[in-house]
Amino acid sequence: MTERTQLFPKVGALLHGGDYNPEQWLDRPDILKEDIRLMKKAHINTVTLGVFSWAVYEPQEDEFHFDWLEQIMDRLYENGIYTVLATPTGARPAWLDEKYPDAMRVNRDGVRNRHGLRHNHCMSSENFRRRVEIIDRKLAKRFGKHPGLILWHISNELGGECYCPACQERFRNYLRAKFDNDIEKLNHAWWTTFWSHRFTSFDQIEPPFSNGEGSIGGLNLEWRRFNSWNMTDYMKFEINILKELTPDIPVTTNFMKMYGMLDYRQMAKELDVISWDSYPRFQNDYESLWDTFAENAFDHALMRSLTGGKPFMLMESAPGLVNWHPFNKLKRPGIHSLAGIQAVSCGSDTVQYFQWRKGRGSFEQYHGAVVDHLGRDDTRIFQEVTQMGEELEKLREVAGTNVEAKAALLFDWDNRWAIFDMAGLSKEKKQYEQTCLLQYKSFQKLGIEMDIVSMCDDLSRYPVVVAPMLYLLKPGAAENLRNYVRGGGQLIATYLTGYVDENTLCWLGGFPGDSLTELFGLYSEEIDTLYPSDRNRAVFADGAEFEIRDFAEILKVQDAEVLASYGEDFYAGTPVVTRRKEGQGTAWYVGARISQEGMEKIYRICLKEAGIAGRPMPEGVECRVRKAGEETYVFYLNETEQAVSISGEKGTELLTGRTVTDQITLKPLGAAVIRRSI
Ligand code: GLA
Ligand code: ZN
Repeated sequence: MTERTQLFPKVGALLHGGDYNPEQWLDRPDILKEDIRLMKKAHINTVTLGVFSWAVYEPQEDEFHFDWLEQIMDRLYENGIYTVLATPTGARPAWLDEKYPDAMRVNRDGVRNRHGLRHNHCMSSENFRRRVEIIDRKLAKRFGKHPGLILWHISNELGGECYCPACQERFRNYLRAKFDNDIEKLNHAWWTTFWSHRFTSFDQIEPPFSNGEGSIGGLNLEWRRFNSWNMTDYMKFEINILKELTPDIPVTTNFMKMYGMLDYRQMAKELDVISWDSYPRFQNDYESLWDTFAENAFDHALMRSLTGGKPFMLMESAPGLVNWHPFNKLKRPGIHSLAGIQAVSCGSDTVQYFQWRKGRGSFEQYHGAVVDHLGRDDTRIFQEVTQMGEELEKLREVAGTNVEAKAALLFDWDNRWAIFDMAGLSKEKKQYEQTCLLQYKSFQKLGIEMDIVSMCDDLSRYPVVVAPMLYLLKPGAAENLRNYVRGGGQLIATYLTGYVDENTLCWLGGFPGDSLTELFGLYSEEIDTLYPSDRNRAVFADGAEFEIRDFAEILKVQDAEVLASYGEDFYAGTPVVTRRKEGQGTAWYVGARISQEGMEKIYRICLKEAGIAGRPMPEGVECRVRKAGEETYVFYLNETEQAVSISGEKGTELLTGRTVTDQITLKPLGAAVIRRSI
């Protein structure tokens, strides 16, 4: 039985709130007063303060102004509203860049930024870190014991990379440590005899500048790892200051879903709470609403899985529209609540917004907010936000419960980086992220929630594990997968499994490497890349056929059962889908990019054999379960414009308080959350 993990016992509820920027309104006490009234009306119980307040806190070097913040935090607290307090380091005051230009990043072309924008500090700059330490210490000393403070929010959406001399030197030191100060070890790992790229000293190594070395896979990958490590190191620098002064206040930083440049799994180890910012393009013109929601659910699942399934925070979402999508469409009525309840269904214990009130000027003046320039509380958005607040209160008892996931999908940043960088196949068709997402969606259709985990994680609690395009095998990964299958797991791997080691050196003796050929009972002799209009087919023994596009491996099966063979081309009749029993489990191999219908057929066979019952939903409906102790909460989300009926439920529907004895009807874009009593 899993127990509850309350993120914020002090609040004891699901959080509802968002980024609040009172520093933009200090000359309007009437507005600040009105904000409190409006927040209470909208059932707001938390705000995030100070995300970009550095220039107001410290208008000149060493001149500090915090009284305004204290007054605001006091007033919020007196009105039952808690504070998430950010460190203001996501954007720098002009004086800082003027005096310490090394705080500004250098880009891939070797050019130093000018002052401006945000999220662009150099992570290695000593001067920057010194000023960060000063402001963070002041904040922690002054506000660390404030009764309203529940969480530190480090900087904002950390990201990007820096090629300045300080970062380069840290990179070289990182490599020295990694390769035991032995340049020959590095030369071997990076295969540098190719094109005469051998190094004779670590001093010769540069990051992959746009006009520099970009042809060494190991270097490219190590630069990405370093950049992620360096950002994590910077984040830890801020965290350490706060932990020293306020050890009891948890810390988070807001992630950006599948953001490509940082290995969130490594960063997550340093955080007490995972939070992220979600801005889906609802009701776009290229996919169904169901698809958009499924992609969002995948992102939620990725975030949830970063802490082993504990509840996480939806830190930002748009109350209405955003201002940075290619087309900034209004959220249609009903979408807001549905997206909020979806977040909770996926394990979020919060629904937070960017932003509380629209600013009058600058880049985000047209970004949606709970309170518009109109300043009224009878707007559609304000009312929908208020409704969300009421709904979250009705769902209060869900806080701290855990999402049930019977399957896992392997997704690793190293693998992603290596696939992206590999010169081969077809650049535009590799689509690793998209392929992972499609498998998640297929499982959702089959009524099974997936966690998104790493190839080296303990997989034993998942009856089924899907490993799309597991191109790079980290040390220990193959062993982990073998043990998982031997212990009774169902492992489904695909084309492009096990081509390279952690340095992107190809495995010798057959792919999938590191002896995984034995686990699957086959090796891949060649891989074919299809032109966009080329097609092949996977033909199953029962006559079912599914389209193949993009990639097809020619497999040599030594010891496996063949489930399907190719239908076309010079490799027609050779195996494409196989399985092999090993110990208590089964290792499945899908050698080509088969249509999702084909993948779903394989998943159905596998789930049946593993004795896992899914609960397939009608098209456009999501179902997910959160549990703790004896309690089970079932979420149904209708992402269609028609009413949908579901049967087989018993319990209490929390949003309406109604008793359910079998059937529930979901309104168009409606949701139901049932405390099960079966
Ligand atoms: C990000 C940032 C916010 C804001 C929003 C706008 O998530 O963290 O500061 O810029 O985008 O959508
Ligand atoms: Zn730098």
